[in-house]
Amino acid sequence: MMKLTQADFQERRDRLAEEMGPHSIAIIATSPVAMRNRDADYKFRADSSFFYLTGFAEPEAVAIIETFESIDEGYTYSLFCRERDREMEIWHGYRAGVDGAVEDYDADEAYAIDLLDEEIIEKLLNKQKLFYRMGQQVDFDARVAKWIAEANGESRKGSSAPAQVIQLDRILDEMRLHKSTQEIELMQIASTISAQAHTRAMQAVKPGMMEYALEAELNYIFGQNGCVPSYNSIVGGGANGCILHYVENDKVLKDGDLVLIDAACEYQLYASDITRTFPVNGKFSPEQKALYEVVLKAQLAAIDAVRIGNSYKEPHRIAVRILVQGLLDLGLMQGDIEQIIESESFHQFYMHGTGHWLGMDVHDVGSYKQDGDWRTYEEGMAVTVEPGLYIAPDDETVDAKWRGIGIRIEDDVVVTKNGPRVLTAAVVKTVEEIEALMAVQ
Ligand code: GLY
Ligand code: MN
Ligand code: MN
Repeated sequence: MMKLTQADFQERRDRLAEEMGPHSIAIIATSPVAMRNRDADYKFRADSSFFYLTGFAEPEAVAIIETFESIDEGYTYSLFCRERDREMEIWHGYRAGVDGAVEDYDADEAYAIDLLDEEIIEKLLNKQKLFYRMGQQVDFDARVAKWIAEANGESRKGSSAPAQVIQLDRILDEMRLHKSTQEIELMQIASTISAQAHTRAMQAVKPGMMEYALEAELNYIFGQNGCVPSYNSIVGGGANGCILHYVENDKVLKDGDLVLIDAACEYQLYASDITRTFPVNGKFSPEQKALYEVVLKAQLAAIDAVRIGNSYKEPHRIAVRILVQGLLDLGLMQGDIEQIIESESFHQFYMHGTGHWLGMDVHDVGSYKQDGDWRTYEEGMAVTVEPGLYIAPDDETVDAKWRGIGIRIEDDVVVTKNGPRVLTAAVVKTVEEIEALMAVQ
């Protein structure tokens, strides 16, 4: 089983300390526990950037990185975490505790999380720069502000809080945007499991089934592989496929309709993101097939544009042109292609972008522009390619036969020296392949 090691997390901390420079401190908190209702909480999922640096998956944890006079002296990594507690561990499970933080997670120093307010002041004093992820958690922001005030209260003793507060996310996001070989392998595993889930759904669907029952088929595969969905699954039959973030999944799947599934899992906190659209009864109607072929053509051409040196926007530009040409050819739009693209009147049928960065978060971190221009693809970046066409059920500008058809096809692509690498290729997507798979009983 592929697993990141402490050496991988340490290498990331080394790079961060290097970027921070001397006389600096970084404070990185994991996510708070989210309550679902009354005293029932959601299963905890670590903050992606916190986990990226620590590999520590327990709640209530804060990592501190401190640099000193010269970066050649190295840095100190402190982990504040929950203490071991026999009673709590009987009820809620194992904790690494401060000893585990040092022994198993390579912390130079470890403290009980309850000591954070006390210990942090000493660490803040006489540092020049504070690197902090401002705006992620308002409650924690308020605590940091209080620590700064407290540290400044020491000024008569000749010490004070850092003079500069710098957005730590700028550095971490850029690191996370460029995936290592191991990270890509984890994303490949998430993608392969997700592809298997979509294949199972294609084989399981039949008219009369509930959307949630089809969702259960996906969850079966995720669960069998120890995975959870990386976002809320979208399973939309017929016109529900035109609702971009449809998650109710509580309607009947009807004979003659398509079903759009946008669902995938995360593996060791690395996400996948797949959409497939296929006929509930196993056979595309002529209109469904015609629109599907347009989306597929746009998607294949857009994937081919995910190449080193191309603009981030190039796949979208290519996809839009093919989609608009298809809409013109099928008579759903009229007019001049350039004018339609320029005026963006195609938003009537295609209203979202063609992709986003993908990584530990499904809509992953990383800037899309640099110095005001769309950035260009570099080796190790990962992006989704997900064009679609959505004909609203009440769109009177088109012939009735097209209404209520929603189609999206989404794959996950890594930029490599040898061109685009599609991580999600294991689930079929041509009309012929889908129909052939669904015909097998
Ligand atoms: N599943 C979310 C997205 O495709 O962006
Ligand atoms: Mn996506
Ligand atoms: Mn998606």
